[in-house]
Amino acid sequence: MKTLLITGAAGGVATLLRRELAGRYRLRLSDLRPVKPNAPGESFTKADVASLRDALRISRGVDAILHLGAHSVEGDWETILNANIIGGYNLFEAARRNGVPRMIFATSNHAVGFYRRDQTIDHTVYPKPDGRYGVSKIFGESLASLYSDKYGMRCFCIRIGNAGPVPIDKRRLSIWISPRDLAQLVTIGIEHPDISFEIVYGVSANTRSWYDNRNAYRLGYRPQDNSEPYAAELLKVHRPGDPRAELYQGGAFVVSEEIENPAPLPRKAARKTAGKRGARGATRRAAASKAAVRKPTAGKATATRRRRAAR
Ligand SMILES: NC(=O)c1ccc[n+]([C@@H]2O[C@H](COP(=O)([O-])OP(=O)(O)OC[C@H]3O[C@@H](n4cnc5c(N)ncnc54)[C@H](O)[C@@H]3O)[C@@H](O)[C@H]2O)c1
Repeated sequence: MKTLLITGAAGGVATLLRRELAGRYRLRLSDLRPVKPNAPGESFTKADVASLRDALRISRGVDAILHLGAHSVEGDWETILNANIIGGYNLFEAARRNGVPRMIFATSNHAVGFYRRDQTIDHTVYPKPDGRYGVSKIFGESLASLYSDKYGMRCFCIRIGNAGPVPIDKRRLSIWISPRDLAQLVTIGIEHPDISFEIVYGVSANTRSWYDNRNAYRLGYRPQDNSEPYAAELLKVHRPGDPRAELYQGGAFVVSEEIENPAPLPRKAARKTAGKRGARGATRRAAASKAAVRKPTAGKATATRRRRAAR
């Protein structure tokens, strides 16, 4: 039986997938947060993907990696840099050094979130990320391309729409993927003999899809689910939000944090900027910047609602 390393194993997607993949693979679960192995063949190793040493430790001797461990919504630059950019690099590099032949990379619809909803896009469109998070996913896709071309790693990038038991709003009618459909894609990434570098959309067979997912179909994907049975009920309760969020596929991500640069400036640079623009203005901007960055995490319930609404 093949061994699959799952990073981000304490997260929502991994929790859905563990149920689907149990019994098919030996699952080596890893996360910053603890996870309780609860099926035969599951084990847990704590690790921070921002550490190359940790990445090397957890990826030794596995047949494939499903890289889910990341900051999974928009965030400040430091967070995205460490978890997604450095973390992504570490996982690919550790896989290379340990001779892991396959990488399944969880990328996102937010890598192409600035395409309009009246467009149908396929796997060949150029990137249009809708935030720092989306940029980090494009970075991961680029790593996949590089490690495939240069080192022969078989890399399968799944631009996940929104994974969950059911779609829960209008936007998700177009991007939803059921757990069993996502597990089918992951299995293609682990098993398909002809993959070198591929991008597919992680969506079910949704009638309202924004994606031409023929690349996934070419590789044998046969989705079992469609969001349409949920449409009438969800459309009944839909309240349009910001017009730009309604216009673009990325939804709320395209309008989140509309500030120059939400990353805190290094102290020296901040003092210089304050001198140039006026200290009070800079303080106000810094406070606004902090508030905007903090906004998504203001209160657990609010944060959860925002994450659900946005992804
Ligand atoms: N949920 C979706 O529908 C969706 C959609 C598109 C893409 N994705 C991608 O799929 C992956 C999983 O998403 P999710 O919804 O389960 O996210 P999640 O936030 O529920 O889980 C992510 C997990 O990664 C872990 N993590 C974060 N930083 C880490 C680090 N430095 N080292 C080790 N672990 C770290 C977290 O502790 C968390 O358990 C993410 O990469 C996300 O970007 C998810």
